[in-house]
Amino acid sequence: MRQKIVVTGGAGFLGSHVVMRLLALGNEVVVLDNFSNGKMSHLGSVCKHPQLTVIHGDITNKDDVDHAFMGCKTVIHLAVLDLRQSIKEPFRVNKVIVDGTLNCLEAAKENQVDLFLNCSSSEVYGSAVYVPMDEKHPLNPETPYAAAKVAQDMYVYSFGRTYGLCWTTIRPFNMYGPNSHWQGCRGEVIPKMIVRAMNRQPLVLFGSGNQTRDFLYVEEAAQAVIKVVSNPAAVYSQTLNLCRGKEISIRYIAELICREFNLNPTEFIQIQPSRPGDVMRHKGNNQIISEIIDFIPQIEIEEGIYRTIEWFKSLLNKPQELLSQEVLCNWI
Ligand SMILES: NC(=O)c1ccc[n+]([C@@H]2O[C@H](COP(=O)([O-])OP(=O)(O)OC[C@H]3O[C@@H](n4cnc5c(N)ncnc54)[C@H](O)[C@@H]3O)[C@@H](O)[C@H]2O)c1
Repeated sequence: MRQKIVVTGGAGFLGSHVVMRLLALGNEVVVLDNFSNGKMSHLGSVCKHPQLTVIHGDITNKDDVDHAFMGCKTVIHLAVLDLRQSIKEPFRVNKVIVDGTLNCLEAAKENQVDLFLNCSSSEVYGSAVYVPMDEKHPLNPETPYAAAKVAQDMYVYSFGRTYGLCWTTIRPFNMYGPNSHWQGCRGEVIPKMIVRAMNRQPLVLFGSGNQTRDFLYVEEAAQAVIKVVSNPAAVYSQTLNLCRGKEISIRYIAELICREFNLNPTEFIQIQPSRPGDVMRHKGNNQIISEIIDFIPQIEIEEGIYRTIEWFKSLLNKPQELLSQEVLCNWI
């Protein structure tokens, strides 16, 4: 696989891992990112790679999208604003997810791309009606973010039906690992808890802590994305869950992180009222993606959390600085 590939949101959490792998395989990569949540530093040593073009642009701007997509044969569409933001600013998030996706679909159609890889989210399913949740699970979006992701998926499907666009939708469950976000409302649970533990601050559980998620280490998720774009014919017009197929409670995550930092869970785990938009149970079924691209995740949660902690430790020797961003968080 050596081609010109555009990655929207390529400076973000998942995007940065995907871009590094694409470059290592000899592809020419165009990143389109407005850096609202992404960072150049996520791309590490490859940010000056001769095969990489970074366009500081917005997917809601048609000219930016047309410019970035020119001559690309594969699109990996990852740009997004997050779930918590959608609860505060549903119109803004809808504009990025829905209007932005439409711009990307139009440009993909004009460029007659070989594959439009659409990144959905397990949030479209809502809380599990049955487990493990397969791709036929009902769509019950519980937040404006999830509703916009349903619309995104439907637009992608419709472009396949109307214009013959070659698409694949992947549905990641929860990912974690290096480059994940810990700051403010957009912070995810694992990095947030790690940063708080580094600072000997309480780890917060919203509600009982018995909510479950299906966590996948981000490097394995990026590996799966590469396998999908390397096998376009096998994945056309398919929706594929991307998960480990194991459910882990948020309380277990908190206990694990306490153990890694030698903190007493009774003292350091704090309960706060549950938040709107938190689904109760997620456990995915990854049978289809396993069969199609031979994707078998190997990294257990204990190992993945250990690696993530090591990454935070290597990156930051100034935990107080991290905390100052953390306490700015406006819990919803
Ligand atoms: N992180 C998870 O656990 C998770 C779970 C399920 C699905 N997903 C999906 O994976 C994809 C990537 O998510 P992520 O966690 O890497 O998010 P992220 O926030 O780290 O990355 C998204 C990137 O999009 C960029 N962006 C935002 N608005 C933009 C705009 N208008 N124009 C251009 N760029 C813009 C941001 O700057 C950021 O770099 C998304 O489609 C998301 O819905 C993520």
